[in-house]
Amino acid sequence: AQLHELAVRAGLQYFGTALREGALNSDAQFAAILRDTREFGQIVPENGQKWESTQPSRGQFTYSQGDITANEAKRNSQFLRCHTLVWHSQLPSWVASGSWTRATLTSVIDTHMANVMGHYKGVCGHWDVVNEAINDDGTWRDSVFYRVFGTDYLPLSFELAKKHDPETKLYYNDYNLEYNQAKTDRAVEIVRIIQAAGAPIDGVGFQGHLIVGSTPSRANLATTLRRFTSLGVDVAYTELDIRHSSLPASSAAQVTQGNDFANVVGSCLDVPRCVGVTVWSFTDKYSWVPSTFNGAGDALIYDSQFRKKAAWTSISSVL
Ligand code: XIL
Repeated sequence: AQLHELAVRAGLQYFGTALREGALNSDAQFAAILRDTREFGQIVPENGQKWESTQPSRGQFTYSQGDITANEAKRNSQFLRCHTLVWHSQLPSWVASGSWTRATLTSVIDTHMANVMGHYKGVCGHWDVVNEAINDDGTWRDSVFYRVFGTDYLPLSFELAKKHDPETKLYYNDYNLEYNQAKTDRAVEIVRIIQAAGAPIDGVGFQGHLIVGSTPSRANLATTLRRFTSLGVDVAYTELDIRHSSLPASSAAQVTQGNDFANVVGSCLDVPRCVGVTVWSFTDKYSWVPSTFNGAGDALIYDSQFRKKAAWTSISSVL
């Protein structure tokens, strides 16, 4: 059996992957695995719905990149996660470097959501409303949104998102929450800030950009997930990859990678409100890791020739 069918039998809603827009039409092997709904019951665009892709200049909305994944989800009847609305990165300079008041920046966010969420209304099962609002040391991340609003942009963004798509589930999404340290404490505070303001939040996405050999145990991961589910929100692993710090990976390192993947997926099984797991692309042929983390790589579950790795087998055994 394949990963999505195993995940559903084990009680999750889905096992999914990010879709690299440029690969779908150029690489038949990539497309064939992506479209195997026994393997992937959910997809998310790697880049196509980000602000720089959807509203590169003010008032100019383009959906050609985002629609690649939305059309694919429809074609294959795969659950669609949508990513992302309010984020400091891949944000065009007209927003990032604009001089805004609360009123004018509210209007910019409102217009962005009205158009983008309006375009995808009824097709996004989840939306990552706010992405990466916290630094690794737990301090608030500097961004145009934080500079103008302080933390008020958090409830404001969720409030506006609800107005533009009342049906989708609204997520806060971030990385390095898995280690249960200062950054995680602050993410718990984000949920509380939003809830205390009377704004809606349905879930917290754990990106899961992890490192072979430094991934927390299944029990510790589950404990961290429960800090959020006890506040009444769902959780999900939204961008899972587990990178080798140096290459080539030894066979021992590949076994460790498999155990690390199994711990992450296992922790989701252990927490009733953990709804699913998404890998951030599935093949080492297409991964953001090597270009982002110097010397690191091979972070996914198929190798660059589309062969299933030890990591794939470990996940299938834990499911
Ligand atoms: C990454 C993409 O994978 C790359 O192709 C792009 O160049 C940069 O963004 N956190 C996120 C994702 O929320 O959107 C990022 O995706 C990876 C980190």
